[in-house]
Amino acid sequence: MEAYPAVVNQLVSRQINAEAQAALTYRTLASYFSHPSVSYPGFSRYFARQSQEEEGHAKAFADFHSLRGGWVCFGSLESPLVSGDFSFLRALEEMALPLENKVYDYLVQLQLEGDAPTQIFVEDFLLEQAKALGELNSLLTKARRLNGDPVALHLLDKEVGEMGA
Ligand SMILES: [Fe+2]
Repeated sequence: MEAYPAVVNQLVSRQINAEAQAALTYRTLASYFSHPSVSYPGFSRYFARQSQEEEGHAKAFADFHSLRGGWVCFGSLESPLVSGDFSFLRALEEMALPLENKVYDYLVQLQLEGDAPTQIFVEDFLLEQAKALGELNSLLTKARRLNGDPVALHLLDKEVGEMGA
């Protein structure tokens, strides 16, 4: 087996955990928005899909890591508590955006410091992540614009629920 540089091992391991952390956070948000006292089924579906995507990323990096000779280890993940009074805008601003920015930064670092196979492997994820950030920012603009208007929020819930469906 060819060498798997220690620094790459460490960065890929960090990536697996960041993707798993994102999956868990989105899963929590999906549950929050489907709670009977919240009831935004579209937002819930949107976050459930995001969670599935992140799970797929975590699995892809874990498979790559293992093939290169690394041992997969999920460190302790933070389980965010989302309850009571919250909003889609806050979910995007306070949770999704910081997460996705962090994942993007980690991917960039992996691209810069990775060995050749890692750089090739990371390329698709980096492009996808850049697009995801653009979509997230566009969604943030929409969510900010409605300014909490209940009818507009209802329409956004419908629209977002159908995204990528
Ligand atoms: Fe991801």
